[in-house]
Amino acid sequence: MVNGKLEGKVALITGAGSGIGAATARLMAAEGASVAITGIPEDGVIGVAVEITASGGAAVAIPTDVSDPEQVEAAVAQTVDVFGRLDIVVPNAGIQMHREDRNLHELPEAVWDRTHDVNYKGQYFACKYGLAQMVKQGEGGVLILVASITALKGTTPNVAYSTGKAGIVNLARHIAVHYGPQGIRANSICPGALERTPDHEDHPDPAGRKVEMIRKIPIGRLGTPEDIAPFITFLATDDASYASGANFVIDGGITVA
Ligand SMILES: NC(=O)c1ccc[n+]([C@@H]2O[C@H](COP(=O)([O-])OP(=O)(O)OC[C@H]3O[C@@H](n4cnc5c(N)ncnc54)[C@H](O)[C@@H]3O)[C@@H](O)[C@H]2O)c1
Repeated sequence: MVNGKLEGKVALITGAGSGIGAATARLMAAEGASVAITGIPEDGVIGVAVEITASGGAAVAIPTDVSDPEQVEAAVAQTVDVFGRLDIVVPNAGIQMHREDRNLHELPEAVWDRTHDVNYKGQYFACKYGLAQMVKQGEGGVLILVASITALKGTTPNVAYSTGKAGIVNLARHIAVHYGPQGIRANSICPGALERTPDHEDHPDPAGRKVEMIRKIPIGRLGTPEDIAPFITFLATDDASYASGANFVIDGGITVA
């Protein structure tokens, strides 16, 4: 344990088998939270849960495809079965389908649909079923929705990705306003360009992307999951008890450059 700021809390994180989700799970567990590691592929979520458990934390792996509402509802139910309650939800799973980057008028509807099914509807499902449990408990809760700086600009070529992320920012605002009176806080975060993107292996030119991004980022480096996880974890703690309905940009300065 570091200092136990999430002692007694139960968190569910989607897409927690790698990247930002896994780093957040490790940090929340180190702060004393019991963590449901949800997502696909199965071996990824199991690996993270085993690692946390082996280092003395509390974690359960729940393989879950966020685009399927029944699986998300079941993941919330299983979390409550195992840990007894739910206090924190981090809708984080995402795909980027780099090979499908193309002009809007040439973008296949199937790419638009798949991107929104995972990135946007997946967060809606996690919020919907997570909120249902929090409302039932009647003791408040916290949601931290993982968006992206692509929500804030029109520059990214991947319009399905950026429009879904923009929707997520407003989803957090909606929850903050409509569930605030029940003691539930919601915020979104917009990470900038990390060393690895979702679907990194599919990027046509990862080395070129790296050079281009570093040139644009004022602090001169790409981010890592470990740059982002502390912000998500902080927002889940009572230290952030007055933060709700906000969007936090963590991007090395690229958005304002
Ligand atoms: N890496 C970046 O540069 C960057 C920048 C801004 C925002 N983000 C966002 O951060 C979040 C996490 O991405 P990451 O960078 O950690 O990449 P990542 O690929 O490591 O994490 C995404 C996770 O979601 C999982 N996933 C994919 N489809 C899923 C599905 N249908 N159901 C459940 N899980 C599924 C993946 O297997 C993976 O574990 C994503 O929402 C992403 O859009 C990333």
